[in-house]
Amino acid sequence: MKTTDDTTAHGGDVRLTGISKTYGAFTAVHPLDLTVPQGSFFALLGASGCGKTTTLRMIAGLEEPSAGTVHLGDQDVTALPPYKRPVNTVFQSYALFPHLDIFENVAFGLRRRGIKSVKKQVEEMLELVQLGEQARKKPHQLSGGQQQRVAVARALINHPRVLLLDEPLGALDLKLRRQMQLELKRIQTEVGITFVHVTHDQEEAMTMADTVAVMNAGRVEQLGPPTELYENPRTTFVANFLGTSNFIEAEVDSRSGEDIVLKAGGGKLVLPRARSSAATTAGGKVLVGVRPEKISLTHADDAGEIPEGRNRITGRIADSSFIGVSTQFVVDSPVCTDFEVYVQNIDRDARLVPGAEVVLHWNPAHTFGLDAAQDIDAGVETVEEEVA
Ligand SMILES: Nc1ncnc2c1ncn2[C@@H]1O[C@H](COP(=O)(O)OP(=O)(O)OP(=O)(O)O)[C@@H](O)[C@H]1O
Ligand SMILES: [Mg+2]
Repeated sequence: MKTTDDTTAHGGDVRLTGISKTYGAFTAVHPLDLTVPQGSFFALLGASGCGKTTTLRMIAGLEEPSAGTVHLGDQDVTALPPYKRPVNTVFQSYALFPHLDIFENVAFGLRRRGIKSVKKQVEEMLELVQLGEQARKKPHQLSGGQQQRVAVARALINHPRVLLLDEPLGALDLKLRRQMQLELKRIQTEVGITFVHVTHDQEEAMTMADTVAVMNAGRVEQLGPPTELYENPRTTFVANFLGTSNFIEAEVDSRSGEDIVLKAGGGKLVLPRARSSAATTAGGKVLVGVRPEKISLTHADDAGEIPEGRNRITGRIADSSFIGVSTQFVVDSPVCTDFEVYVQNIDRDARLVPGAEVVLHWNPAHTFGLDAAQDIDAGVETVEEEVA
């Protein structure tokens, strides 16, 4: 079932141009250009207060932008009231009508438009969200996840061009959240409508979205497919907010073909030139980044067995936690305290315990370089706050 027309398949379905929002002296959203491709699942990801809801509300017409324009397809909707825009919004509190049954909740939009024969469409929608059996129940007789699916069906029956979702899974417990993420993704693939999904949960954004825009303090820091953001973060904020990154402060020593050779501590590290967003002139400072799962850990006694050509640093294990599929080590190294290393539990080396001297090594291709004039810990505290 495709419900959108294809007239703007090559443009964006949602196009924000220089859009911003200020409240008095406070800027909630800095001038922002953003294009959401038609039919995509797009996530706006960021910590609390970074401007996600404000951006979504400007698309919906619930908030008037201080500057800039909103296009939906080819149409400039900046001056249109919410009800004239081809969008629907699903909020965290899904606010179903408690006195109406599920069927009537879903039928609501059609009835309001004076459509008499709603049965076929409502049944189709209930099938889509797998609630065909529940049609005659009242909302309070459904679980949180089922109610949320009713809210999605109620919005989709209006055939919006774009469905906006503001933390729709925020009220659900973790397990149900994971199920609903897959469920929403399936629904989106089936209907082909553009979804713009707001969340502060990086795993949720990565699981569901084709494209993720990482927001920080009213700005989009980086935008791209989840794998691209994870493998090639361009700022320390993105590197830390999406998963965990280790950073080493290094200095450019020389070039070697497509690689840059860096000095860090007493040793040398190799960084592919294509993976550095920092300037790479000799003497320049670079933050060398590497993800914890890319690193191997070898006991110092076996250091001779490490193949040539790998980046390597030495250290001492400070802490280790066994978590089943992997063991997570914290290694204290002269070039970086608290280096995180995740080792898959295939053949566990019993010598790798706190206090052990180790060599950390990895394929240079897995190294990324960032501008050293940034806060190494940007995005770190925010994540911890969220967990607490
Ligand atoms: N009506 C308002 N008046 C003044 N400031 C506001 C108003 N609405 C939002 N803000 C501020 O704008 C900033 C962005 O708010 P917004 O609701 O967009 O954040 P968010 O990213 O959705 O956060 P959360 O994840 O907590 O929902 C916040 O600092 C907020 O306090
Ligand atoms: Mg919000």
